[in-house]
Amino acid sequence: MMVCEYKPGLEGIPAAQSSISYVDGQKGILEYRGIRIEELAEKSTFLETAYLLIWGELPSKEELEAFEHEIRHHRRIKYRIRDMMKSFPESGHPMDALQASAAALGLFYSLRDLHNPAYIRDSVVRLIATIPTMVAAFQLMRKGNDPVRPRDDLDYSANFLYMLNEQEPDPLAAKIFDICLILHVEHTMNASTFSARVTASTLTDPYAVVASAVGTLGGPLHGGANEEVIQMLEEIGSVENVRPYVEELIQRKAKIMGFGHRVYKVKDPRATILQNLAEQLFAKFGADKYYDIAQEVERVVEEKLGSKGIYPNVDFYSGLVYRKMGIPTDLFTPIFAIARVAGWLAHWKEQLAENRIFRPTQVYNGKHDITYTPIDQR
Ligand code: CMC
Repeated sequence: MMVCEYKPGLEGIPAAQSSISYVDGQKGILEYRGIRIEELAEKSTFLETAYLLIWGELPSKEELEAFEHEIRHHRRIKYRIRDMMKSFPESGHPMDALQASAAALGLFYSLRDLHNPAYIRDSVVRLIATIPTMVAAFQLMRKGNDPVRPRDDLDYSANFLYMLNEQEPDPLAAKIFDICLILHVEHTMNASTFSARVTASTLTDPYAVVASAVGTLGGPLHGGANEEVIQMLEEIGSVENVRPYVEELIQRKAKIMGFGHRVYKVKDPRATILQNLAEQLFAKFGADKYYDIAQEVERVVEEKLGSKGIYPNVDFYSGLVYRKMGIPTDLFTPIFAIARVAGWLAHWKEQLAENRIFRPTQVYNGKHDITYTPIDQR
């Protein structure tokens, strides 16, 4: 029998062959289908990037227009989904609401035709189109308001911000939000993508695939870190408090949220872009004292932990960007999910193309040949 070495967290073990994205963690490079993230952030849009990831090539003008058109016309959610969401507790986390709602979509589209390209396209369109509507609807309903209908004359990101805030967004804010979605859409074999691929490998429906990935994204070691970064900056409260705060965390071996990465050993290229976007927002809409605190945190952490390869990751500056847009902290991770759904769907499609069910092994470290003890003798 082959003996395999157990690697906690499967570190360094390939779980799939994939041509969707690539990370060089030493050089700080991220590419989607071979194109550098910096170039996509500058020149592309979220929907164009989603198309690139899912279908493997940049779309022609006509292909992009057709995709945008389909998304635009599938943004509404069924009133039964809305009613179901209305009955969710207002105090519940929006990630849980999103997971339940994404899974509920599967109840309405139960036909599973995984070898049919039209089915794949319909599912991709429906999920990318409706997830933002579900996030915005829950936000309004938990405040006691009725959800706002999507607006067909607004593009993807502007429409989401409109549905969330019940007013048309500033064009710079909408553009920056769209870039944030590009930065979050895909990132090789992270925990939620792995989860999506495992679920996909059972040949279940794409709604179950996305629901399981949403559940995985929510944890504080993954997408949930962006919320915790803001909580940490608020707790620090002032630039002077940064050094003692960080030193205390390091001393008790606690994790500093928004720092560190399994793959990157330098500053995450997405963090650099997000920091720049945050600065653009501060220049237009006014400074944020938490940005000064964040920069000092970065300086101190680099001084103390840079030699271990601990630098800001994607979650460190994203929260400051969303905060400046007036977005509540507990929506940061659902916004991550709005973007990442396209990456998960690209992996779903890739997994189906050469599927084999995931069924890893384990290293058993329990007992053998134990006799059953009757309950009255225990
Ligand atoms: N603060 C302080 N020390 C850290 C940190 C951190 N944020 N991250 C890693 N380390 C240290 C860790 O203590 C360990 O040190 P030692 O070898 O002395 O015991 C070493 O670095 C390796 O850490 P690890 O936890 O084994 O690394 P990992 O690859 O298992 O974990 C990580 C990666 C992202 C879970 C981890 O860096 C972390 O928990 N970061 C904080 C949470 C966070 O920001 N998550 C967002 C991740 S990026 C985007 C996303 O996935 O959503």
